Amino acid sequence: MAPLLQVEASSKRFGGLLANRDVSLAIEPGEIVGLIGPNGAGKTTLFNCITGYMHPDEGRIVFDAGDITHTRPERICRLGVARTWQVVRAFGRMTALENVVCGALQRTNRIAEARARARELLDFTDLRGRDDAPAATLTLADKKRLEIARALATQPKLLLLDEAMSGLTPMEAAAAVQLVRRIHAELNVTICVVEHVMEVVMPLSHRVIVLDYGVKIADGTPEAIVRDEQVIRAYLGERRAAR
Ligand SMILES: Nc1ncnc2c1ncn2[C@@H]1O[C@H](COP(=O)(O)OP(=O)(O)O)[C@@H](O)[C@H]1O
Ligand SMILES: [Mg+2]
Repeated sequence: MAPLLQVEASSKRFGGLLANRDVSLAIEPGEIVGLIGPNGAGKTTLFNCITGYMHPDEGRIVFDAGDITHTRPERICRLGVARTWQVVRAFGRMTALENVVCGALQRTNRIAEARARARELLDFTDLRGRDDAPAATLTLADKKRLEIARALATQPKLLLLDEAMSGLTPMEAAAAVQLVRRIHAELNVTICVVEHVMEVVMPLSHRVIVLDYGVKIADGTPEAIVRDEQVIRAYLGERRAAR
C-alpha cells in the first residue's frame, strides 16, 4: 500500500533558523503516529508545511499520491487533511454549532445538511448541549474538542492534532485520548498527534517520530523510542537547559 502522506527531505527556514531540516517521513493509512520532540523542535512547523499554511523551502510533500508542496490550505483540506491548532483557534463569537458548520460547509453547500453533520459531531465529541454556547465561553478542554469536531466536519483522511491534550487536567487528557482512539476506530481516520507528555503519546501511538532541532532523530515503535539513546539525550538536554 502507498503511504497516505509522504514528506521528502522537507526544509523550512526562518531567517537564519532551520526549523525543519531535511525531514523525511511517511504515514501509512490507518496509523496513529506520535510526533514528539522538545519545545522548538519544529513539530508545528512541519504541520504548517503539510497543511499548506506554510510551504517548505526545499523538499516535497505528497498526500494521497498527489504533490501538495505548494498547494493552498483550502485545497489541501478538500483533499482530506485537517488539523487542530496548538493555541486553540475556535471562532469565539460564533456558537459551537456554527464553528462546526464552518467545517462541514467544506463538503456541502446545503446548510441543513451541514447543520445535521455538525450536530452529529458535537455528539461524537461529547459537546452535546453546548450547540448554542458562544465558543469563547467554553472551557479549554471543550474548545479543544470543538476544534477536533470542526476538523472532523471536513471529513479528513488524515487528522493532525497539535497538542490537543496539553494544558488539560489528567482526567480531561484521558478523555481526549479516548476521543482520539474513537476517531481512529469509528471514523477510520489516520492520525498524527503532536504531544508533549510521553505517558500520553506512547500508549496511543503505533509508531513515534522524534524531531530535535528541526532534524528527525528517530522513527520507530514506542518501545524502541523510549530506549533510544539520542531521544533520551534530547529530552535530558531540554531538562538541563530549563534548569
Ligand atoms: N512563523 C515563524 N517565524 C519565525 N520563527 C518561527 C516561526 N514559527 C516557528 N518558528 C521557530 O521555529 C522553531 C520551531 O518552532 P515550532 O515548529 O513551533 O516548534 P515546536 O512546535 O516543535 O515547539 C522555533 O525556534 C520557533 O521559534
Ligand atoms: Mg508546537
